[in-house]
Parts: sequence; C-alpha cells; structure tokens
Amino acid sequence: MSTKNSLTITDNRTSKTYELPIVDGTVSTMGLRAIKTDEKDFGLMGYDPAFMNTASCRSSITFIDGDEGILRHRGYPIEQLAEKTTYLEVAYLLMNGELPSAAELETFSAEISAESSLHENMKGFIQSFLPNAHPMGMLIAAMGALGTFYPDAKQVLDAKVRRRQIARIIAQIPIIAAWSYRHGVGKPFVNPDPSLGYTANFLSMMKRGSEPRYAAHPDIVKALDVLFILHADHEQNCSTNTMRAIGSSQADPFSAVAGAAAALYGPLHGGANEAVLHMLNEIGTIDAVPQFIKDIKAGSGGRRLMGFGHRVYKNYDPRAKVIKSLADRVFDILGKQNPLLQIARELERIALQDEYFVKRKLYPNVDFYSGLIYQALEIPIDLFPVMFAIPRASGWLAQWEELLMDKEQKIARPRQIYTGIMLRDIKR
Ligand code: CMC
Repeated sequence: MSTKNSLTITDNRTSKTYELPIVDGTVSTMGLRAIKTDEKDFGLMGYDPAFMNTASCRSSITFIDGDEGILRHRGYPIEQLAEKTTYLEVAYLLMNGELPSAAELETFSAEISAESSLHENMKGFIQSFLPNAHPMGMLIAAMGALGTFYPDAKQVLDAKVRRRQIARIIAQIPIIAAWSYRHGVGKPFVNPDPSLGYTANFLSMMKRGSEPRYAAHPDIVKALDVLFILHADHEQNCSTNTMRAIGSSQADPFSAVAGAAAALYGPLHGGANEAVLHMLNEIGTIDAVPQFIKDIKAGSGGRRLMGFGHRVYKNYDPRAKVIKSLADRVFDILGKQNPLLQIARELERIALQDEYFVKRKLYPNVDFYSGLIYQALEIPIDLFPVMFAIPRASGWLAQWEELLMDKEQKIARPRQIYTGIMLRDIKR
C-alpha cells in the first residue's frame, strides 16, 4: 500500500490522471482547476452550497470535535474555562492566544473600561425606534451607526487602531443591548459603571432602578458570566463566516459586527434561544410533549425541534451540558423554578430515545436550556439573541483579526454554477 499523501484523480472524460497533494486532511479546490477537457475549458470547481465539507480558513482559535462533543478555545476545554475563568479572560484568550496574567488582565480591563461609554447622540438613535422594536434589529442598526462615530475604524491594517476598535466594540455592545431593552420598557438609560466589572455592569445597566448602585447577587453575576463564556466563540458558524466575509473586503469592524449580528439573528442560529422559549410556551404542559414530537417528526409546517441539532455536533453539545447544570444552580439561588424546565427535560428525554432523533444524531444544543436561565433572570424573550451577541462579539473580532493577518486570505468571493438563460436578444 502506498503511503503517499496525495489524491490521484482520473478524469474519465479525457482518461488523464492528476495528483493533488493532501494537506491537513484537505485538497485544495483550486487544484481541481487543472482538470480540463481542453485548453478553453475553465477547469473543474468544487460545489458545496452550504460549506458542508469545505474549510474556508486556517484558524488556531477554536477546536471542535463534533463526534466526540469537544469544544476547546486555544486548547483549553470549554468546561475548564467555564469553571475557572471569567468572560473577559476568555475574550483576551481568544484575541491573544494565551490567558492573561494578572497584570495583563488589569490592562485589558482598563482598556475596555476606558471605552465604556456611548456617544450622547447614540441615545437619540436608540430612542428613535418604536418601543416594540425587536432589540436585535436595534443592535444591528446601532452597531452599524456606531462605526460612523469612529472614522479611524477604517484603518483595519493598523494593529494598534484595530485593537482600539476591538476594545470599543466589546465595551459598548452591552450598553447598546441594555439601552435597547430599557427603551422598549420605557425606563431611563442607566450609565455604565465599569467599576462593577463587565458582567455586573451589564446587569446594572439593565436592572438598576432608583437605587444609587445596583449590585446583583454574585452567584447570578457568575452564572451570566459563564453563559458569556459559553457563547464567546464557536469557530466557522454562520455569523462568524459573515464576519470574515465582510472583513475580507476590509470594511470597518463595526460594519462587520453589524453584519455578523444580522446572521446571528436568524432562528436557525442565535435566534434559536428565543424560538425555544416560544416553542416551550406553545407546548404548555408535559402531557402535550409526545404529540408535539410526533408533529415535528411528521414535518408538519416544516417545523423543527428548536434548540436541537447542529451542523458540527453529532453528540451532546458540551455547552448545553454546562448550561443544563447551571440552570439548576440559578433556580436554587433565585428560589424559584421555571415550569418550562420540566417541559424541556421531557422533550429531551423523549427525543433522545426516539429513532428519528437518534438516527439523525440530533442532541440539545447551546440554545436549548440557555433561554430558561435568561427567563429566570427576568430577561425578556426577544432579548435572548442579543444576550448571545454580546459575548460572541469577542469571537467575531478574534476571527476577524486572524483573517486580516492571514496571508492566504483574499476578498471572499465564491463561484457559482450559472443556471439561467445563456444569451438572448431583446425583441423590440
Ligand atoms: N428538529 C427536527 N429535525 C431536525 C432538526 C431539528 N431541530 N435539525 C435537523 N433535523 C433533521 C433535518 O430535517 C434532516 O432530516 P432529513 O435527513 O430527513 O432531511 C436532518 O435532521 C439533517 O438536518 P440538516 O438540516 O441537513 O442539518 P444542518 O446541519 O443543515 O442544520 C441546524 C443544522 C442547527 C440548522 C438544524 O439542526 C436546526 O435547524 N436546528 C434547530 C435550530 C437550532 O436549534 N439552531 C441553533 C443551532 S446551535 C447554536 C447556533 O448555531 O447559534
């Protein structure tokens, strides 16, 4: 048996044989171009409409083994990061490749704190939305608008300028989120108080009333911080791919984050956490679960079991495991149960034994239990995708910077298979 690291292809149209090198378990689809019927032929292309089997980049940020249910950032297992670090440390790790020392963390936190205020005009911008505007639509618009306040953000090839925008976006995305929420419920905006720490500051901007300082229960702050860690990055998902695609044209990072957030908004991606809650409310009682599963399997209305299934995980999503145990802790601290949790557990129990889900390897994903925790924290359902976007910003930005540094990357521009009319004349 040959041990050559290459792929031999015979083109049966011409009987010619080609050899393509195998590098890191891939063949370059550009290598297929040499396979032609004659000199005029464009050459073979790959066809992969949803990137089902195409690597679009080299990345050293996040590793996923979907069959084993493994997720690691820069080599660290997600379970250890959730237990032993904070969200800001993970953001630093994604960006820099190493966990920060105490001094590095202090500097990083100070950089974020220094950028923790929104231009006064952003208040008017947020207030211009209808009170019932979806907060994710507000976030997308506000992030795009924010870029206009920082013209230097266009200098994407300047490392120092880039880092400044990264700090700005990480610092200001929670302010946009909290103010969008407060606008919707008709409450005055609460200014940031970075001395509270990143996650507690967000809760203060969301929840503070007339008291001079809002101090959330430390265990609640920790729980939300863990949720932020679990959502920080997930390699080349739909929104990250969007971030990279926009970034590849050298657009400013505010525009790219706005685009990535738009991709996240969809119910098949980050909007799934919101859809799960609507689904659980619709099911209403545990008794209704078996019929609901039957309807899903029958494909009625093309519906799916929201919070289930994943393009990459064909095993239990490791983030869902952490969230499931976190939910119990949060309910204990708050001294209240979420009745929807029982319905979610029953859905999971039945689905994990059902041939339809077993055969297709459909397991709970990160969005299945996260909404139940947000709901216990009295965060409204339409804010759930925004809760996903806040921490994912650090992943998007780390991937964006990696893209800009990658000599193999160019403007993202797929090919197509043209299926339209080839040529005709206007008959007039
Ligand atoms: N409920 C019922 N059937 C499903 C589900 C589901 N949630 N997910 C996939 N399937 C079926 C699908 O109908 C197909 O069946 P068949 O082979 O008979 O046609 C098979 O499983 C494979 O599905 P697919 O659509 O080819 O898989 P995909 O990799 O394109 O989609 C997914 C992945 C996440 C979009 C999909 O599983 C889904 O729609 N899940 C529900 C939405 C959701 O929870 N999204 C959050 C994903 S995790 C966090 C994030 O990305 O933000």
